[in-house]
Amino acid sequence: MIKFKKVSKLYPDKTPAAKDLNFSIRPGEFVSIVGQSGTGKTTIAKMIIAEEEPTAGNIIIGGWDITNIKNSDIPVLRRQIGVVFQDFKLLPKKNIFENVAFAMEVSGAKKEDINKVVPQVLKIVGLTKKTDRFPNQLSGGERQRVVIARSLVHHPKIIVADEPTGNLDSINAHDIVNLLLKINQFGTTVVLVTHNHDIVNSIKKRVITLDGGQIISDQKTGKYIL
Ligand SMILES: Nc1ncnc2c1ncn2[C@@H]1O[C@H](COP(=O)(O)OP(=O)(O)OP(=O)(O)O)[C@@H](O)[C@H]1O
Ligand SMILES: [Mg+2]
Repeated sequence: MIKFKKVSKLYPDKTPAAKDLNFSIRPGEFVSIVGQSGTGKTTIAKMIIAEEEPTAGNIIIGGWDITNIKNSDIPVLRRQIGVVFQDFKLLPKKNIFENVAFAMEVSGAKKEDINKVVPQVLKIVGLTKKTDRFPNQLSGGERQRVVIARSLVHHPKIIVADEPTGNLDSINAHDIVNLLLKINQFGTTVVLVTHNHDIVNSIKKRVITLDGGQIISDQKTGKYIL
């Protein structure tokens, strides 16, 4: 499903953010990527969604080599990958329904499909009763759940979540992770970037640990080792 072959990334200022990364993630896996600040976690997340290109090596997503993906193909890739990043990026002047609907409108979905799918994904994240609220009328945990709902509208095969619990207290953080685990049970591959020890240790699934842009451990049912 996701394959990194000898992937390295040098940012334009020559910062080495990924060094010879080799790993595969199978369909339906739940993988946590951990490591200290600046070790290249977000860089991996961005390369999976083609927001950054590797400097060397190949990245293959679902059999598709996206290493030198054309700009015009990026939307096709992004429809297969739900993206949940820490800065919520909800539209402040749209309510919750409209925020989620917007993700479908921009890709040209029909109104009847939007009216069917948006309530479905808002139900999955438990926000059915708050669909007409605006982002500033929600808690941080609720806002993050809207972001997850929005990431689900295209029924992605993969969800990439970069520090989705970063701004949340531990109860809300566990709720968000439980939601990701639930989505994973439906068959969606989940890549969770985090440096929250408690969360990683409670998930009891595969953990890839980075240091200095390199993988220093890859455990099947891992613990946070740093
Ligand atoms: N656009 C950029 N240009 C230059 N250097 C960058 C850029 N983005 C990230 N870096 C550098 O690349 C390295 C890896 O950054 P990255 O954001 O992947 O780390 P991270 O593991 O996600 O850290 P954090 O836990 O703080 O989010 C760091 O040294 C960072 O300063
Ligand atoms: Mg990061």
